[in-house]
Amino acid sequence: MLYTWKLNPKRWRQILISYLFLPHILDSCYAWLPDTSSKVINALGQISSIKFTGNATHPDHFTVLNQDSNSIILGGRNTVYNLSVYDFAEHKEWRLTWLSSEAHSQLCQLKGKSEDDCQNYIRILVSLAPGLLLVCGTNSYKPLCRHYTLLNGRYKVEKELDGIGVCSYNPEHNNTAVQTNGQIFAATIADFSERDPVIYREPQRTELSDLKQLNAPNFVSSMPYGDYIFFFFRETAVEYINCGKIIYSRVARVCRDDKGGPHQFGDRWTSFLKARLNCSLPGEYPFYFDEIQSTSEIIEGKYGSDLSQQIIYGTLTTPSNAIGGSAICAYNMKDIIRVFEGSFKYQESMNSNWLPFPKEKVPEPRPGQCVRDSRILPESVVNFVKTHSLMEEAVPALFGQPILVRVSLQYRFTAITVDPQVLTTTDEKFDVLYVGTDDGRVLKIVNIPTNEGSAKAVVISENRLFPNGTPVKELKIAPGYGRVVVVSRDEVKLANFNHCSAAEHCQDCVALQDPHCAWDVRQSACVSVDAVSTLKRALIQDVSRGDGKKCWSPPTENKKVPTKVYDKSNDENEVIPEEKVTDSLLKTSDDDLECEDGLTGNRITGCAVRQHLVIYTAKTLHIVVVCASLAALLIGFIAGYLFSRRFHPQSHYPDAPFIEQHNHLDRLNGNPNGFLTPRANKAVNLVVNVPPSPPPKKDNLETKDLNIASDGTLQKIKKTYI
Ligand SMILES: *[C@@H]1O[C@H](CO)[C@@H](O)[C@H](O)[C@H]1NC(C)=O
Ligand SMILES: *[C@@H]1O[C@H](CO)[C@@H](O)[C@H](O)[C@H]1NC(C)=O
Ligand SMILES: *[C@@H]1O[C@H](CO)[C@@H](O)[C@H](O)[C@H]1NC(C)=O
Repeated sequence: MLYTWKLNPKRWRQILISYLFLPHILDSCYAWLPDTSSKVINALGQISSIKFTGNATHPDHFTVLNQDSNSIILGGRNTVYNLSVYDFAEHKEWRLTWLSSEAHSQLCQLKGKSEDDCQNYIRILVSLAPGLLLVCGTNSYKPLCRHYTLLNGRYKVEKELDGIGVCSYNPEHNNTAVQTNGQIFAATIADFSERDPVIYREPQRTELSDLKQLNAPNFVSSMPYGDYIFFFFRETAVEYINCGKIIYSRVARVCRDDKGGPHQFGDRWTSFLKARLNCSLPGEYPFYFDEIQSTSEIIEGKYGSDLSQQIIYGTLTTPSNAIGGSAICAYNMKDIIRVFEGSFKYQESMNSNWLPFPKEKVPEPRPGQCVRDSRILPESVVNFVKTHSLMEEAVPALFGQPILVRVSLQYRFTAITVDPQVLTTTDEKFDVLYVGTDDGRVLKIVNIPTNEGSAKAVVISENRLFPNGTPVKELKIAPGYGRVVVVSRDEVKLANFNHCSAAEHCQDCVALQDPHCAWDVRQSACVSVDAVSTLKRALIQDVSRGDGKKCWSPPTENKKVPTKVYDKSNDENEVIPEEKVTDSLLKTSDDDLECEDGLTGNRITGCAVRQHLVIYTAKTLHIVVVCASLAALLIGFIAGYLFSRRFHPQSHYPDAPFIEQHNHLDRLNGNPNGFLTPRANKAVNLVVNVPPSPPPKKDNLETKDLNIASDGTLQKIKKTYI
């Protein structure tokens, strides 16, 4: 066959026009691409990490029981593991094995639970005194605690105690416990049939099946603060009296020294109060993130004002049946305390509205206050607090709005942890947050408060650590910049989210806005600030703006490098030797595998796998997408052009078998004269109809995630949700 390329001027014009418009089409596509705002995106295996799998064949339901400057204690199936926080090597001599008795295990299976359920999942470990541990486990759906004492470097069982109200029956339940002065304050579910949620400290507890106190709660965290113990949880809202049900986030508190009420109230709290947490985008109809998933510890720092404040960060999400929206809200402890000093909420009768309780009718002394001896409180006060445990006002978020919002079809936020007040080379301090997702990612975020009383969180990196479908359940900060312990149900990883070395140029390094990274002028490298020795070096960093202009006018004077040594706990300012901080994880190494996966009998060994660091930046992704689209358009155009030549009525080959077929088809369709009548602009049509080819890497395709500005741009999402 012979083709002659005859192009008339009209056709040339069409081609030219479509080429002239191409960049504009691309531009508008580019502008529409939602701002994912993750500066670095890492796929599975691109993050250097060491993994610990414990028991490789059965579910472990891992949870972090305790952490100190050297070790991290994990609770798993029938076992307590003691791992080094530096290299995740197990201190096997400290491993504690506790199996359910044969009787308990059989009874559990008789009650219809599976073999995996009928194991002893260790949920609580606290040190009551030096050398004395309290350990609690689900014990085949019959919670049990044990005292272990240290004898010749080995733990010995001293006694067994009932674990009901302290530890959950079901390893999947979200319980929380905190210890102060040898007492355990716990929030859990205290019965086999899962109908009795409780906040408990022997012997005081919340009311049994009183929906106004606890209504199908999911406990998230607990912590001592001042005279109180605070509990964070989500529960079905009693005050929501419209149709259907809704879940709200709560903070509750009890007094540490609550001794219970007089007489028959001896085993009931006299100080249990709770309030709603408000995490919403302001507007005429605020958009709420109502379901708290996790909180950080209480953190002290300066947030937009000169005064030091104590705040707590939380991840809150939309309900699981709604569009996946996640937010990070911070709460000032002062605001929480203030709300507990405000009005109580009450409902006159079953169907009336919830209203603020008239101040003048509140009995004296003020219900819910911490008093020296609660056993001598008037009964009216004890009764009042029992029936009015909900506060009128919701705790407002710091700055009145979330510090970060993400809408994603792929994930929701789960766990959060904070590396507080990381010092920069310019003597500013920023909180670095790590947030897990329910699809196995960890986001590294920096919170940048502004002087105008708001905050802007910047996502530095988004890192896939577990395959899709594996939620991140817990996160803990490990010593060393960017190092975090990431817990999923069956696997725990010590990961390194220090991306400094991935930036090759000063601008890229500064643009990361990572307080952990700075551009070292002498070395011409993006370095981790904690890896720089105390030598005076010229370092360039701009966390608040990420402005690369500083790179053009390097500091003339050598700046003193902050010598912030990692201190995990506030009371222990232990100096960590430098070679420990910049350990093997930071170096590249050829021995990829350090894995003992030998299963010898019941002894299961941990497994450490080393992975290499490869980084794709959002910029690379965009270039790839744009190039791929361009290529697709070009191919489409050429194909379209060739086709249009083929179907042109003046074609030199009217009898081509190809066209005959079409004729035939059209006749079958009942159109005897049918023929695909060519139109002049066919080439253009075809071009427009070609879909852009997908970008090559699926893991990098994050375009479904919208990062919505807190001012107004939420409207679209809001409408869909409401
Ligand atoms: C864990 O191991 C460390 C270091 O070997 C030891 O000091 C610590 O007491 C152990 N902790 C527990 C709870 O066994
Ligand atoms: C525990 O919390 C997780 C995450 O918030 C949730 O998916 C899970 O359903 C909760 N467990 C139970 C038993 O409610
Ligand atoms: C929550 O906060 C928003 C914005 O600050 C406010 O508009 C809204 O009324 C608050 N909601 C409640 C229930 O207090």
